[in-house]
Amino acid sequence: MAAPSHDTVLVLDFGAQYAQLIARRVRECHVYSEVVACDSDPEEVRARRPRALILSGGPASVYEPGAPALDPRLLGLGIPVLGLCYGQQAIALALGGRVERTGVREYGRTALAADPDGSVLFSGLPSDQTVWMSHGDAVTAAPPGARVCARTEATPVAGFEDPARGLYGVQFHPEVAHTPRGLDLLKNFLYDAAGCRPNWTSVSIIEEQEAAVRAQVGDGRVLAALSGGVDSSVASLLVHRAVGERLTCVFVDTGMLRHGEAEQVEETFRRDFNVNLVHVKAADRFLQRLAGVTDPEAKRKAIGTEFIRVFEEVARDLAAADGNGDLKFLVQGTLYPDVVESGGKRNATIKSHHNVGGLPETMDLELVEPLRLLFKDEVRRVGTELGLPTDVVQRQPFPGPGLAVRIIGEVTADRLEILRAADQIVSEEIHRASLDQTLWQWFAVLPAIRTVGVMGDSRTYAHPVILRAVTSEDAMTADFARLPYPVLERISSRIVGEVAGINRVAYDITSKPPGTIEWE
Ligand code: XMP
Repeated sequence: MAAPSHDTVLVLDFGAQYAQLIARRVRECHVYSEVVACDSDPEEVRARRPRALILSGGPASVYEPGAPALDPRLLGLGIPVLGLCYGQQAIALALGGRVERTGVREYGRTALAADPDGSVLFSGLPSDQTVWMSHGDAVTAAPPGARVCARTEATPVAGFEDPARGLYGVQFHPEVAHTPRGLDLLKNFLYDAAGCRPNWTSVSIIEEQEAAVRAQVGDGRVLAALSGGVDSSVASLLVHRAVGERLTCVFVDTGMLRHGEAEQVEETFRRDFNVNLVHVKAADRFLQRLAGVTDPEAKRKAIGTEFIRVFEEVARDLAAADGNGDLKFLVQGTLYPDVVESGGKRNATIKSHHNVGGLPETMDLELVEPLRLLFKDEVRRVGTELGLPTDVVQRQPFPGPGLAVRIIGEVTADRLEILRAADQIVSEEIHRASLDQTLWQWFAVLPAIRTVGVMGDSRTYAHPVILRAVTSEDAMTADFARLPYPVLERISSRIVGEVAGINRVAYDITSKPPGTIEWE
């Protein structure tokens, strides 16, 4: 791989839920950042040649049994270090400062008195500001030689710095939005304390990944499974820039897609970007496979297996048509959060998520993952830079099994048609109300039950539709959206008025947990 052109900041994860957020914030300052385990070998850390280290927050107390220790050798590498919360305490403890239980637990928004004069961290920032705290212990004496540059009522050393040794620490969390000037403090650390250059941009990411893909693939041929979602679209376009004609994208239309989706993929990729695209229209095949299937997991498995089969057939045909069978690589839109697993913890399987993740095991193809360093917001920015249309870049997440998991009961062609029409109205109205930027997802669900209604003078006996709209940061938790009543009213009257087969609209007011976002 070509030597990276960007500076790197390593975030040592002391078990905070904030470590990934810290890395994201650093990248917002256009400096590349990665999360690594807090017990990383200092020699390995040095070998990565980072410009700076950031020690994240962590457990409540450095004195807690089993609390992760800071290897003091990390502080002697000559690399500037910023400790946040627990990270600050760990530095203080390692270098002869004092950490004590002050008896006052600070949690939430806290008034901070800083001393910006002569300070690197607080330079240009107001002396009085609000910061976000979450700690029980506090540093009561900075390490010898370090200067105290911030205090709160309960914390005598809310910030210290020793520029000569490149050591910095704050008790609060500059990475969270509740610390309004937090990003400025991070910039002071990155640019002034550590001399990082702000050279991690969409343009540099594209150039770097293009070069990396070329180096990996050589003159081999590459296959991509394109779903029309943001990740596979951006990954495919990046690879297309790198290898052009030698990329073939396979778009499997399972028949479980939303209104106009297949046409849009075709339009964007074949016409606008001139990408080799194989569009497999396999709706009938998937419907046959789903006949009589009502169990959610059975549906997912049926679709997943069928998808792999279709994909393999296409790959075989392509290799055979080419005569030399040299399809060696498979593009995957793996993102950074899927890669980092600092804690190594895995959640219990709630639903077996189907995406193209199952393919390589059966196909002996080497993976090309041009997004594996990126967070979702970076993927979107790269997509925009590559020229992807806004409605693709901003597209809401859509499950691999598609509408099949939004029909509760057996999937049939009629039900798909009803759901697609209702879902389109939901999308149109959410868009018309300009809510698509604030919501995480919005869609319709069709349970295969019927309810009694009245239209004109006649009794109706038809399906209800459930409207689902949620806000979320990362889909791990979600809140049902407080949609304005006029929007709910329009959606309801339009669906009942325009979609034959629906006579009632209900709104799902369950958050996650205890609900999940999708119904199956
Ligand atoms: P749940 O329903 O588990 O969904 O709260 C969390 C997020 O994941 C999406 N989702 C899927 N994505 N394949 C996917 O690629 C799937 O099978 C799948 N199931 C759920 C869901 O839309 C939400 O954004």
